[in-house]
Amino acid sequence: MNLQRRKFIKAVALSLGVIACAPGLAIASSRASKGLKNLFSNDFEIGTVVGPELLINPKKELLEIVKRDFGVLTTENIFKWENIHPTDGHWNWVYADEFVAFGKSHDFVLHGHPLLWHSQIPVGVFHERKDKPLNRNALLAKLESHVSTIADRYKGAITSWDVVNEAFEDDGSLVQNRWLQTVGPDYIHLAFRAARAADSRATLIYNDYNLWKPEKRDRVVQLIREFKAKQVPIDAIGIQGHIGLDYPDLSHLSAAISAFAREGVRVHLSELEVDVLPSPSRDGLPSYDLALDPYRENLPDSVSLAQAKRYEELFKVLLKHRDSIDRVTIWGVTDDQSWKNDFPIEGRTNHALLFDRDQRPKPAYHAIAALKS
Ligand code: XIL
Repeated sequence: MNLQRRKFIKAVALSLGVIACAPGLAIASSRASKGLKNLFSNDFEIGTVVGPELLINPKKELLEIVKRDFGVLTTENIFKWENIHPTDGHWNWVYADEFVAFGKSHDFVLHGHPLLWHSQIPVGVFHERKDKPLNRNALLAKLESHVSTIADRYKGAITSWDVVNEAFEDDGSLVQNRWLQTVGPDYIHLAFRAARAADSRATLIYNDYNLWKPEKRDRVVQLIREFKAKQVPIDAIGIQGHIGLDYPDLSHLSAAISAFAREGVRVHLSELEVDVLPSPSRDGLPSYDLALDPYRENLPDSVSLAQAKRYEELFKVLLKHRDSIDRVTIWGVTDDQSWKNDFPIEGRTNHALLFDRDQRPKPAYHAIAALKS
């Protein structure tokens, strides 16, 4: 057995309590207490997402974990149109301002997500009144004012922005959303120009899922080239990274990182987690089924170890690309917070993150930390 493999088994065995009194215990606990952000400080920043539960009256243990392990914060839903701009002319700045104040007082780098998306947005945005859709000029004006109002307000406080989120389908075609249908395909360019006009220094990111799929990856490479040709500002690509135990093939992820880096932009892994539940069949709408929710009571050790191995393999790939990657954000802290408990099927018990429901670091956490010991 090689040294890496032995180290991995020891780290996960310790975290499962399998060899509780083994000589490595002190090493493992000091490793954990150093914090992931410090362990990876020469490689890339490590981030997580937070919501109002952390900003307003946080549980002490959770706050301690976030401060120890993560250096960059993203908000999970606060900047989404439906929350921050629920109706025309009405802005809800309370939580966003709180996020910025919290970041400042605890010394976090802040990432904003997202300025423009077609999901979690009120339908009223696209209409002048019921049954009367806005025309191109009016919708474009609204897009520009939404993007620039937010980017301008948080200039200097939010370091990077997902300017446009999820504009492409897996086959590389544009998502048929209201922005495309009314403004046209250059809505993506216009959003980036508006963001740059409002904030000359923030890192501007195009963010999407499944970017390891070759058709989608190549379309985003083409987008970067279009941007460069037309002098539209773009600094980085955000690869979301909602992965599972057996998808995707990590060599495809590696190829995508290389492809974006070759175009001269930076890469962020923006929304990582490792789903451990069975995937629903692709036919029809997924509905709840007990057979698709096998770990309601607890996560069996064998699956926990498989997940640790998967996180470890993933981080090995990321470390290989450390010169191209600026940030790796895990999409949540403890398993109970993960959106994967409700997606793509509502009401399951998933275990996708690095900390369990009692705020204890999981084997996955130790496997990642062990890479930097
Ligand atoms: C998810 C949030 O985590 C959930 O709380 C919310 O209900 C739905 O959106 N891609 C994205 C994120 O860019 O904004 C999504 O976040 C997950 C998929």
